[in-house]
Amino acid sequence: MIKFEIKGLEDYQNNYSKSVQNPEAFWGAIAKENFTWKRPWSKVLDWDFSSAKVSWFQGSELNITENCIDRHLENKGNKTAILFEPNNPIEPSEAITYNDLYKRVNRFANVLKSKGIQKGDRVCIYLPMIPELAISVLACARIGAIHSVVFAGFSASALSSRINDCDCKMIITSDGGFRGSKNIDLKSIVDTALLDCNGIESVLVVKRTNSEVSMVSGRDFWLQPLLDAASEVCEATVMKAEDPLFILYTSGSTGQPKGMVHSTAGYMVYTAYTFKNIFQYEAEDVYWCTADIGWITGHSYIVYGPLLNGATTLMFEGVPSYPDYGRFWSIVETHKVTQFYTAPTAIRALAKEGLEVVKPYDLSSLKILGTVGEPINEEAWHWYNNHIGKHKCPIVDTWWQTETGGIMISPIPNSFEGKPTFATLPFIGIQPALMDENGQEIEGNSVEGRLCVKFPWPSMARTIWGNHQRYKETYFSAYDQKYFTGDGALRDENGHYRITGRVDDVIIVSGHNLGTAPIEDAINEHINIAESAIVGYPHDIKGSALYGFITLKNPQDLSDSLKTEINQLISKHIGPIAKLDKIQFTLGLPKTRSGKIMRRILRKIACKDTSNLGDISTLLNPEVVEAIIKNSI
Ligand code: WT7
Repeated sequence: MIKFEIKGLEDYQNNYSKSVQNPEAFWGAIAKENFTWKRPWSKVLDWDFSSAKVSWFQGSELNITENCIDRHLENKGNKTAILFEPNNPIEPSEAITYNDLYKRVNRFANVLKSKGIQKGDRVCIYLPMIPELAISVLACARIGAIHSVVFAGFSASALSSRINDCDCKMIITSDGGFRGSKNIDLKSIVDTALLDCNGIESVLVVKRTNSEVSMVSGRDFWLQPLLDAASEVCEATVMKAEDPLFILYTSGSTGQPKGMVHSTAGYMVYTAYTFKNIFQYEAEDVYWCTADIGWITGHSYIVYGPLLNGATTLMFEGVPSYPDYGRFWSIVETHKVTQFYTAPTAIRALAKEGLEVVKPYDLSSLKILGTVGEPINEEAWHWYNNHIGKHKCPIVDTWWQTETGGIMISPIPNSFEGKPTFATLPFIGIQPALMDENGQEIEGNSVEGRLCVKFPWPSMARTIWGNHQRYKETYFSAYDQKYFTGDGALRDENGHYRITGRVDDVIIVSGHNLGTAPIEDAINEHINIAESAIVGYPHDIKGSALYGFITLKNPQDLSDSLKTEINQLISKHIGPIAKLDKIQFTLGLPKTRSGKIMRRILRKIACKDTSNLGDISTLLNPEVVEAIIKNSI
């Protein structure tokens, strides 16, 4: 028997060594004793990194929603499962108990079935942060439909390409969404997207803003009347361990976004176990993660991880600045939030507003603070620790990725503490490795390299939807027998890890993972533009911001409106989050003799670090570099 709770350094060390020495025995015990299974597995783990194939708990059968909801009904039926805090503070919050959640998920699942959705079908969810978002995710899982949540900040064209990539049969959306003082017309974005999607048979529309929308007869349905007519009992579909639970798109350094596929049993076990221990969740706690469910953080640590533990998980519809910059702290006070999990970019934005917006609020309920999404700088870490945690709350700087499904490297509050800018030690079962330029693992401490993982963990993504070859090439080809993360990291004298940032062409802007290629593709659509190169540069609030170096087909075409047009194209193809902060037009881009843009040089120019550009004489066009430096912004 292995205890689910980690209660101190000794537990961590014991469990960690068990998980590495005999992973199958370790995860088998955790899985068996803490979840409801309909049939046990025949093999805990089967894996082969050379073909990028991994399966956990093979042979078992289960339904994740029975583990998230049904099994809590007996003892926790009246406990709040989801605490919904609306955008407008005047509107009352809503407490959805486990009993309520059971009924609402079942009703929704029955509606999906009545519209022809079956096990294995893909359902796109494009909703604001309202309870129906979590409920529709669970309703899909209830009947074995694969949910593909698309963050509601993505544009119509980003939405349609995600719908088409995995052939969604249905989309669930709302008439609109409230975000601060704005109303976002989600339904009209969906209507535009669907002009390019042939596979969608039905559109379910949640009423939220009461905005006027157009409904296509026979295709579009208001959700509420369908829910009213549906039964509140829906038997959970029996799923195999490796049946896909969901697809979630993440941008890569090249090409189309990647539809990461997560499967059922391993994801369940790992998200539940990490949630419990990293956030030290206890029965009466009110846990709040400020992410959007459109990202992996929301999937794993707003919906699945907390509900698997029978927790109360707060869902916030709005933004940190509305009606003023005290909103987060006011919510913490009102709901007596105990664990608070957010992104460094939010911390920096709030710190900038000064303490006047923090001081009025009683934050004494807080026990643990978390951060995720990008490296946290020391200043932000200390501000969080001093002014929000008041030196009493351990900070968990959690490093992980869409692909990893769950937190990989993080402090565990009662076992070992964090230190600023360090994600610290691998979680139970995680075997990191740092690699050098020659593809060799770097052993020992006080070293730096590229971060890999050398052994499978239960919640790792299993493939890229429709393209296993790309999955293998992206993650398992850079280093033999290892999963490559795309991040650099150092390991200090105590074996603690500090993530130093991406080593590929992915830029993390305000915690959002943006590939440069899709942005460049969007810009290059402009008829006057010949070429573009996007790089990141440090930004006080966003962590990194985007700098575009752009050449025109004909320099005479430079106009005042061009910068606006470029950002409009980016908004159209990707979404406003990918807009450029700086745009520099240049007569040429530095290239290698084989014609490859030398981003390394552009990155240095954007970072105003031009003292050592390295040898530029081997460039095809060294003369352009000086002009670019001279005109840099
Ligand atoms: C990339 C993954 C996992 C949820 C949110 C982002 C960066 C994430 C940290 C952290 C330093 C971090 C990495 C990673 N990242 N957390 N605590 N410290 N960097 O998921 O969009 O898939 O992005 O975010 O560069 O590779 P994602």
